[in-house]
Amino acid sequence: MSTSRKTVTKSKSPVSQRAHSIAPSGIRKFFDLLASMDGVISLGVGEPDYTTPWHIREAAIYSLEQGRTMYTSNLGTPELRRELANHLHQKYGVKYDPETELLITVGVSEALDLAMRATIDPGDQVIIPAPCYVAYPAAVSLSGGIPIMVQTFEANNFEISASDIENALTPSTKAILSGYPANPTGAVMPREKLASVAEVACNNDLLVISDEIYSRLVYGVEHTCFAALPGMQKRTILLGGFSKAYAMTGWRIGYAAGPKEIIAAMTKIHQYTIMCAPTMAQVAALEALRGGEDNVLEMVADYNRRRKVIVKGLRDIGFSCFEPKGAFYAFPNITSTGMNSETFAEKLLQEEKVAVVPGTAFGACGEGYVRCCYATSLPELEEALVRIKRFVTKIRKNNEENR
Ligand SMILES: Cc1ncc(COP(=O)(O)O)c(C=O)c1O
Repeated sequence: MSTSRKTVTKSKSPVSQRAHSIAPSGIRKFFDLLASMDGVISLGVGEPDYTTPWHIREAAIYSLEQGRTMYTSNLGTPELRRELANHLHQKYGVKYDPETELLITVGVSEALDLAMRATIDPGDQVIIPAPCYVAYPAAVSLSGGIPIMVQTFEANNFEISASDIENALTPSTKAILSGYPANPTGAVMPREKLASVAEVACNNDLLVISDEIYSRLVYGVEHTCFAALPGMQKRTILLGGFSKAYAMTGWRIGYAAGPKEIIAAMTKIHQYTIMCAPTMAQVAALEALRGGEDNVLEMVADYNRRRKVIVKGLRDIGFSCFEPKGAFYAFPNITSTGMNSETFAEKLLQEEKVAVVPGTAFGACGEGYVRCCYATSLPELEEALVRIKRFVTKIRKNNEENR
């Protein structure tokens, strides 16, 4: 007996075109290589070498002892949202309603994804200053948008200007996605320059998604919160987190602050995909905000010492190295070696066991640079510099001989 079944023609790949369209993170690819080696000094992964301060861990442990193991409100606990609203007001002068304008997320990573999915329609263009954090173009593409990379230059302190943005505008431009203090360059935007970018956003009715995860890690300069600029709060989605300033990368906790309507849209997606950020991490974050200020100041002072050592060390080796004013990355220009970024990073790892990230992991315009994370102990940084010097001296000698 024959049965007739309806069949439909399927596309060949089980993987969606959107997933196909994004490249795997250039950082991860490199670190798979590193995982198999011993004795490597890693200036690679962008995370603090500190353990989360004890009182923060203790608060979370105590919450577990008390049996706080249930979901929280989708938005995050009211105490955390209230404390966060106070914190943002005190630090940056921005006022958010903890009931409607704040959402606690699984790190800035989730907040970024939600911000894109809640605001970007297929074909919308999003301007991104580059080189940039690896997730930005992917987050735009995954929401159906089109990332428009706008190159920033060492000669201009890797700052973006109003005219750079204006030149990239089209009728499809919906938003600017930027992150200052910047990963990978360490650039911090001066207030006046940020204000002129804000003016372009206003004049052209653009949204601004401002990733300020490194806002607390600045050295001798002030961080300007984008939303604090005149007229900007109503068009800015501010993303922030605990990973970097409080050494809490593994807790997976961050937040988004923005206009009520956008936060409501982000919350809908968050409800269906995540429910709520981890309860114990929310307890830890609350303790971080209430009692972690001294820890932040201590860590920042330490990063600053390391920053000076690495920048001087790289310059002494003969590299042109922009002085980073924020985050914990140095971004030396390695073109004088005659190598491209990827070859430089691969050879340095193989020959001297120092891991750095090729600048191209942060966009094509990162070619000629490598990212060195200096959230590494001073003795390790010093040893890394000795190894880099030995490596570069050998390369230069070879280059001379082959001339
Ligand atoms: C600029 C930037 N944004 C976001 C993140 C991710 O942060 P989170 O740990 O809060 O997800 C990172 C992590 O390296 C980052 O450098």
